[in-house]
Amino acid sequence: MSNSLLQALSVQSTKRLGDPFDGYFKKGTKWTPRTDGLLDISNAKRWFEVIGWGSPNDLYTYQQALESKSGPRVRLGGQQFLMISSYDYLGLIGHPAIEAAAIEAIGEYGTSTGGVRLLVGTTDLHRQFERELAAYKGAEAAMTFSSGYMANLGIVSSLLGPDDRVIIDAKAHRSIVEACRLARVPMQRFHHNDPFSLQQKLASKPSGRRTLIVVEGVYSMDGDICPLPDIVELKKQHDAFLMAFGKFDIKSGKPSLIIE
Ligand SMILES: Cc1ncc(COP(=O)(O)O)c(C=O)c1O
Repeated sequence: MSNSLLQALSVQSTKRLGDPFDGYFKKGTKWTPRTDGLLDISNAKRWFEVIGWGSPNDLYTYQQALESKSGPRVRLGGQQFLMISSYDYLGLIGHPAIEAAAIEAIGEYGTSTGGVRLLVGTTDLHRQFERELAAYKGAEAAMTFSSGYMANLGIVSSLLGPDDRVIIDAKAHRSIVEACRLARVPMQRFHHNDPFSLQQKLASKPSGRRTLIVVEGVYSMDGDICPLPDIVELKKQHDAFLMAFGKFDIKSGKPSLIIE
């Protein structure tokens, strides 16, 4: 880490973060890796160094234990913090109607299903939710996943295989890359938000393969908006499939995850 970055990070408020490592990384102590264990890998060493520096300096923000429900303000370590990292885009956590429905459902169905959705974990509530979601979106059917990561893994690995190919935006989420690996489908990247670069990849289409283009509606790290009309035009010209992942537009009624 560069000195200027360290300095920038050191501009802190007076608020103290919690220590998720229970004092393992104390200020001034150096973590010395064991050379014979499972953590004897460069990746682990790199992370231990970063955490060993960040945690005692109050700059390790992962796995902080909130002492309240998530919302615009949260409490941790007995102090109030402004929350700017959550995915609660619609601000529905804590909505009284949702809380009441969840409590009622626990009374009826318990706190967990007895298995995964595929086996014995599907309830009529799941079905009802998916039917209502499909109707709301004007789609034939809807399928819900417990996380975005699982959605990408499940969709790409079940619909594509080694004889196809996937072309992804260079800044597409990591889970798409993992999904392609799982599907053993060849993957190419085009320059971020650059339809010309996509066109070049599409033009090199190997014969007999289906092509899936993967983009995001709004790139969550940078806030860039995808030039979707241009991408859709290219998809049509090259007879490809398109998956556009978005999670910010449910209020407008536009599809959150388009696969065409
Ligand atoms: C495009 C995209 N895919 C997948 C994910 C992963 O979603 P989750 O954190 O729900 O697993 C995200 C999360 O921000 C995302 O932006």
